Amino acid sequence: MVLGKYLFKLLSEGLGLSPDHLLEMECGEALALVSHYSPPCPEPDRTLGMTQHSDSDFITVLLQDDLGGLQVLHHNQWVDVPPVSGALVVNIGDLLQLISNDKFKSVEHRVLASKVGPRISVASFFGRDFGPISKVYAPIKELLSEENPPKYRATTLKEYTEFYRAKGLDGTSALLHFKL
Ligand code: OGA
Ligand code: NI
Repeated sequence: MVLGKYLFKLLSEGLGLSPDHLLEMECGEALALVSHYSPPCPEPDRTLGMTQHSDSDFITVLLQDDLGGLQVLHHNQWVDVPPVSGALVVNIGDLLQLISNDKFKSVEHRVLASKVGPRISVASFFGRDFGPISKVYAPIKELLSEENPPKYRATTLKEYTEFYRAKGLDGTSALLHFKL
């Protein structure tokens, strides 16, 4: 939670806003911690691992072990995110893309299945369907202008997460559904 608050301050400054802006919007109010345990896979070529997706939240702070397997989509190519001992990976999620009106982009990522394992990772999601779930989130007014009109409609953590879950990880972005 402490690290999250610090990150939201940096991200607010990155948007040219006052450091407390995203915290005042309650982006750092609650986190869901999800632990993944992936046993060794005898035939990685015949399965999917964790398929391509972007996270539905504001940001995800991820701890992976030293086995690797995490990849991000960059210019249409899958790029390894090599594990660095003691380091955390911070991913931008869909809702930060929505409220920043595309200034920050959520990252498409996946995890490959591997013969080596078990692989263990711990993801901390800021902004899922708990905490301020009924609060309305829309592109931040201070970032909008005549040349930069809102690209997304308003939503809530509850609505966004429910839509994201119902849609499933089919390789398309849930954000498209909220585009104006
Ligand atoms: C996730 C995720 C990656 C990992 O939980 O959304 O992308 O390395 N996890 O476990
Ligand atoms: Ni993810």
